[in-house]
Amino acid sequence: MMRSLLLCLAVLSLIPTDACQPDGKARSPMTKSVFGRLPNGREVHEFTLTNRFGLSTQILNYGATVRSLLVPDRNGKLEDVVLGYDSLSEYVDGTAYFGAIVGRYGNRIGKGQFQLDGKQYRLTINDGENHLHGGKTGFNKALWDATVLSDSAEPSLQLQYVSPDGEEGYPGTVTLKVIYTLTENNELRIAYEGVTDRPTVLNPTHHSYFNLSGSFTHPILGHLLMIEADSFTPADKGLIPTGQMMNVTDTPMDFRTPTAIGARIDDSFEQLVLGKGYDHNWILRGGAGRVRKAAELYEPASGRLMTVFTDQPGLQFYSGNFLDGTAKGKNGIAYGHRTGLCLETQAFPDSPNKPQFPSVTLRPGEVYRQTAIYQFSTR
Ligand code: GLA
Repeated sequence: MMRSLLLCLAVLSLIPTDACQPDGKARSPMTKSVFGRLPNGREVHEFTLTNRFGLSTQILNYGATVRSLLVPDRNGKLEDVVLGYDSLSEYVDGTAYFGAIVGRYGNRIGKGQFQLDGKQYRLTINDGENHLHGGKTGFNKALWDATVLSDSAEPSLQLQYVSPDGEEGYPGTVTLKVIYTLTENNELRIAYEGVTDRPTVLNPTHHSYFNLSGSFTHPILGHLLMIEADSFTPADKGLIPTGQMMNVTDTPMDFRTPTAIGARIDDSFEQLVLGKGYDHNWILRGGAGRVRKAAELYEPASGRLMTVFTDQPGLQFYSGNFLDGTAKGKNGIAYGHRTGLCLETQAFPDSPNKPQFPSVTLRPGEVYRQTAIYQFSTR
């Protein structure tokens, strides 16, 4: 005990004081371990990032996946707030996009087709008659190159994926860097940077399923959600936007004040019927290009509050409607209907076919940038 305390004191100049545990052991801001091997033999690594308040996350270089995120409740109890799997094979076989970076195009492209500069492109169809989340082998199924950028008080991990020209039907070689940082403000910050060698479309997003209660056996219906949006993009039965923008006033899509997710989710409102619950894109206030608050998610029993910031024009709120208990997650817990929810910062779905939506075209010489912040506090 004495020795470990002395050791801890000796490294105080290198790491924040609070990184010393009650047992006197220093908590390392970043560790790396082998998570598993892909069928092709390549090793997948897991990086554990920890800040001095105990917030910690395990990130895989497979799919740039956030596998766990430990966050304090109002009594300081650390619990995992994201859905995920225990083993690599479940990520390889899984279809739920737990915690991954999805792309090239997060969300749907109608009929998997679009035109760019007069040329027609056909993408993989993997969701009814549409293209979803980058296709069959999207960015969530790729092995990314990992680089530790900072092993300090704000641990930071860069993941890079080079998506070849023609992958899933998309034109151009795209190089995407995603930097995950655990900040001193108890935030998981995600910074994206992408370039291409031919004109293409790019709209990656982060697909964590959150359940702030600390227990994945309970649905997220009691969480209170607030979204900074006066309108949303209504969609058809395949969840492709119609192209209209609908005001949320007097509809169950109005989350301008914190409202329980379960309060109206089963209303007969047509959009909820089509989405089998919430699975829509909200048009965020304040215009894109500037990081501003997009949403707040609060779980009353634990007191955990998550505030989402983004510079994107839209936010997809998906209430876990397709979870049906068949996916068994960490510690063998089956993820039942609506036991996790996603808040995906993004451009609007089907933008390549909707000239009235903000553009998602990326050309050689341009740099795609996105910042998303998931900030944790308690009330
Ligand atoms: C997104 C979509 C949903 C669903 C999930 C993954 O959030 O909008 O419809 O496909 O991903 O299951």
